Amino acid sequence: MSITTTCIPASKTNVNKVELPSNALVLPPTSQLQALLTIIRDEKTQRGDFVFTSDRIIRLLVEEGLNHLPVVPRTVRTPVGIDYDGVAFQGRICGVSIMRAGEAMEAGLRDCCRSVRIGKILIQRDEETCQPKLFYAKLPDDISERYCLLLDPMLATGGSCIKAIEVLLSHGVQEDKIIFLNLIASPEGINNVCLKFPKLRMITAWVDEGLDGHSYIIPGLGDFGDRYFL
Ligand code: PRP
Ligand code: URA
Repeated sequence: MSITTTCIPASKTNVNKVELPSNALVLPPTSQLQALLTIIRDEKTQRGDFVFTSDRIIRLLVEEGLNHLPVVPRTVRTPVGIDYDGVAFQGRICGVSIMRAGEAMEAGLRDCCRSVRIGKILIQRDEETCQPKLFYAKLPDDISERYCLLLDPMLATGGSCIKAIEVLLSHGVQEDKIIFLNLIASPEGINNVCLKFPKLRMITAWVDEGLDGHSYIIPGLGDFGDRYFL
């Protein structure tokens, strides 16, 4: 049994109206979401407001991500002695953040799932070549038995995300148990990730226009990690 989600296919919101894979989903483009994104995109926004506002969008993404986990029927007795036929999550989950920027999404996940286990993969893009380099991975021992919420706010070329997914798969995680949560994605990144891993689901808050000559997302918001942490 699974719960209906409010997400829409990424293709429907893509400004360039290019075809995007069906496993890429986008949050509904409400005026609230657009107002929040406008704040974090603004180069004049100071770190306190950037963090506060990003955290609000992250919370929306986490809540939506949880809608994609399977549930099974569960009946409970209420204090007035009546049975309520509800549901319970079927499997266990863990979060995995792609450091450093992905760590900004951990608190939002913990706010919703109190004692969630969190793994970390340190991947950095080379500033010259924009190619991702894997430095470190520390994951829960039983990660192969869990649904995995992969966390990274920025999807540009997709190279970092692809490397992180390869790490998860090499640790036995099933591709269809990976849900990638992301704030801003380029169409190039979506295609690269979602076509390579068709069973994975990705949920982003917004699909941007593309990439500039340095593989930064445009219009984007600049370097998320620097703006959130430095
Ligand atoms: C950023 C971002 C992604 C990656 C996206 O991280 O958080 O991990 O770049 O780019 P890609 O899709 O082209 O791989 P970065 O390597 O700059 O490190 P940071 O998290 O320390 O900012
Ligand atoms: N990393 C970021 O933080 N921003 C981009 O636009 C691309 C990679």
